[in-house]
Amino acid sequence: MAIARRKFDAVIVGAGGAGMRAALQLSEAGLKVAVLSKVFPTRSHTVAAQGGIAAALGNVTEDNWHWHMYDTVKGSDYLGDQDAIEFMCRQANEVVYELEHFGMPFDRLENGKIYQRPFGGQSQNFGGAQATRSCAAADRTGHAMLHTLYQRNVRANTQFFIEWMGLDLIRDEQGDVLGVTAMEMETGEVMVLQAKATLFATGGAGRIFQASTNAFINTGDGLGMSARAGIPLEDMEFWQFHPTGVYGVGVLISEAVRGEGGYLLNKDGERFMQRYAPHAKDLAGRDVVSRALTMEIKEGRGCGKDADHLLLKLDHLGADVINMRLPGIREIAIKFAQVDPINEPIPVVPTAHYMMGGIPTNFHGQVVAPYKTGPEEVVRGFYAVGECACVSVHGANRLGTNSLLDIIVFGRAAGNQIIEDLKKSPHHKPLPADVADRTLARLARLEGQKGGESVAQVGATLRKTMQAHCGVFRFADMLKEGVTKIGEVAEQAAQTEIKDKSKVFNTARIEALELDNLAEVALATMVSAEARNESRGAHARDDFPERDDEKWLKHTLYFRTGRRLDYKPVRLKPMTVESFPPKPRVY
Ligand code: FUM
Repeated sequence: MAIARRKFDAVIVGAGGAGMRAALQLSEAGLKVAVLSKVFPTRSHTVAAQGGIAAALGNVTEDNWHWHMYDTVKGSDYLGDQDAIEFMCRQANEVVYELEHFGMPFDRLENGKIYQRPFGGQSQNFGGAQATRSCAAADRTGHAMLHTLYQRNVRANTQFFIEWMGLDLIRDEQGDVLGVTAMEMETGEVMVLQAKATLFATGGAGRIFQASTNAFINTGDGLGMSARAGIPLEDMEFWQFHPTGVYGVGVLISEAVRGEGGYLLNKDGERFMQRYAPHAKDLAGRDVVSRALTMEIKEGRGCGKDADHLLLKLDHLGADVINMRLPGIREIAIKFAQVDPINEPIPVVPTAHYMMGGIPTNFHGQVVAPYKTGPEEVVRGFYAVGECACVSVHGANRLGTNSLLDIIVFGRAAGNQIIEDLKKSPHHKPLPADVADRTLARLARLEGQKGGESVAQVGATLRKTMQAHCGVFRFADMLKEGVTKIGEVAEQAAQTEIKDKSKVFNTARIEALELDNLAEVALATMVSAEARNESRGAHARDDFPERDDEKWLKHTLYFRTGRRLDYKPVRLKPMTVESFPPKPRVY
């Protein structure tokens, strides 16, 4: 079967903030850039980021990047790589001012400077008083960012492939990456996109869980493609549960609510966070707050007839503050929880939100992995940034508003690295003869399969299993059983049948292809979680309640073949400053 081929300098898969920031860097340098997106670019999941982007501008309280670095290392429960964290925090002010100059409509303080609000885990002076570090555009910061970046990319002539899904990574015999195969979602047309540089910015995979703040598009496509091409996945056991998803629905209620002065209550009207985090209270690290909510429910202090949620109170902020600073939250609460927060608290529960692990990279966005059985090295031609990547700046737990910072800092850094790399390697490598065989075999399997489970059924089982077996608290027997169950789900996913093909629109095929990726992510998560016998950040084991630096201060690498695990050291040495050695983490 003849397949269309297109050639670009760079192909970027994903048009969220990370992909668009990288694309902008490349297009403005005069390179020919294609960006593939399953949705219209401004509908990418960055649009849902609410509370802000972290940068130590010091517009409200005194601040500096080194304090930000300390907070991020501590927030990561010391699993973050300190060179990458220094790199990110040092660049934060510059990238935020750059966004401002791109035209991003930040809110303003009275003096005209960018508005900043406090977020969890932010401190002054290495663990002292609360810092005010998150730069915000009301509670729609991601929306403002994404639209700004899209407009700049249009001006820079970035070429968008809208409603195209990446299917498989193209690698040659040396392990170099030469592009991707992709499908136009409406027509099912398959194409080979050949590139000197291929960058994945495919976002998260929160849809492996039943209750998630993530968009339906967040199916871990970049991770699935990477795993199938022999790239290991790093630190997949670390998933962040946001403390405040709307009860029963999962939609995000920004931490900005607590940053503006809102707080959590149990059924007795108690501000219970002061028992769990006496200093930071409601603005402790997210893992700490989510565990506190889960404990309150478990110990019978939850609210409602089933005692299964908590309340987020913000009416005391007053209508003016709510309407000016949190208008989107008010809208979400009215629509999804049927409460107006000007008068009533919002019912909330911890909800799967963010994947700290991902495709292993260095802080230039280059993917770093062994090829076959060789040593770990840069994979030529392959880059990853944003939530799909593991740099690792978030370690075992991310701080709120460090994700928008991550996508901008590393999107730009990867763009710069690609520009340098293409100066040294200006030509396309020849494509292998079997360039699309793997993709075509997958598609043929889908078309020809008879008698398998439906995609919807297998997907539902996967999400239910992940939710029950790999949640806020984790239990040895549940994890063990979870590995078996997700293994079975992965086998079923490889045999799904698209029922009555004459009647389905192409979305059924897309969902089947997405399920392949979800299954890869779920399996990597469960296997990695079962093996890590300690509690660190968002990975809280009932049977190993303490952090164990002696045995477990190391990154997990999950290899799809044989479901093998390996480990690599945490980079504790920053670039220029002293290391922050691990110590007990209290808020
Ligand atoms: O709570 C929030 O606004 C989410 C921010 C984040 O995940 O960084």
